[in-house]
Amino acid sequence: MKGIILAGGYGTRLLPLTRVTNKHLLGVYDRPMIYYPIQCLVNAGVRDIMLVTGGNKAGEFLELLGNGQEFGLKELHYTYQEGAGGIAAALALTEDFADGDRIIVVLGDNIIERNIRRAAETFATQPEGAKILLKEVPDPQRFGVAHIDAAGKVLDIEEKPKEPKSNYAVIGIYMYDARVYEIIKTLKPSGRGELEITDVNNHYLRAGILTSDILEGWWTDAGTIESLHRAANMIARDGANHLDD
Ligand code: DAU
Repeated sequence: MKGIILAGGYGTRLLPLTRVTNKHLLGVYDRPMIYYPIQCLVNAGVRDIMLVTGGNKAGEFLELLGNGQEFGLKELHYTYQEGAGGIAAALALTEDFADGDRIIVVLGDNIIERNIRRAAETFATQPEGAKILLKEVPDPQRFGVAHIDAAGKVLDIEEKPKEPKSNYAVIGIYMYDARVYEIIKTLKPSGRGELEITDVNNHYLRAGILTSDILEGWWTDAGTIESLHRAANMIARDGANHLDD
């Protein structure tokens, strides 16, 4: 299983903090934001990782992270996204790196309390398809939202619905088989002009090969002033990326 961290985009919801730097280089409690998704993958046992960055100050990732020695990695791979065409557009750039393997994708501004090792191991035994992770939140309108039935089965996923059908957000950690790259090639830009990861997930759902788990422990993004502040407080209180799951 290979790991991919998406750290492109312009971080406009954090202006003026992101005017002269990349969102994922901002500090969250005691370290740069990008440290958290890297540690998340490393703790899940992933050692082969590519970072997709973009926007301004992309070179600073290399200066900050080098080959990932601080995380016990031998090597860290990088690629650059021109523009900000969406999460699925950023993911498309990693096709050659994935080279037919399964991948775990972590959004660069997503932080979790615990460890996804068990979900990753379960996905490794899944014959094909994708796995998403869900978390109950008080503000589902901000996220991809899973409509689920009484048995917890996902029926549909909507991106930032005005009237969410549940409180279950689809968090920014996704597990895919190699067909994800073919699916992305069929996508059309959404209303906000982006290739949406929710469209990828719905594609797997319609094919009947999408599984989902409820994430244990807290999860937050850090892409708005409010959530960046909340993330720092939660990390200060509980720590992030616990080794035990
Ligand atoms: O945080 C989870 C949510 O992330 C999901 O529930 C949503 O379904 C998903 O669409 C996404 O929502 P956001 O609108 O909050 O995503 P955002 O535009 O903030 O991008 C999240 C990360 O993805 C960002 O930190 C870097 C990466 N990204 C984003 C874009 C638009 C890229 O690498 N390239 C891009 O072009």
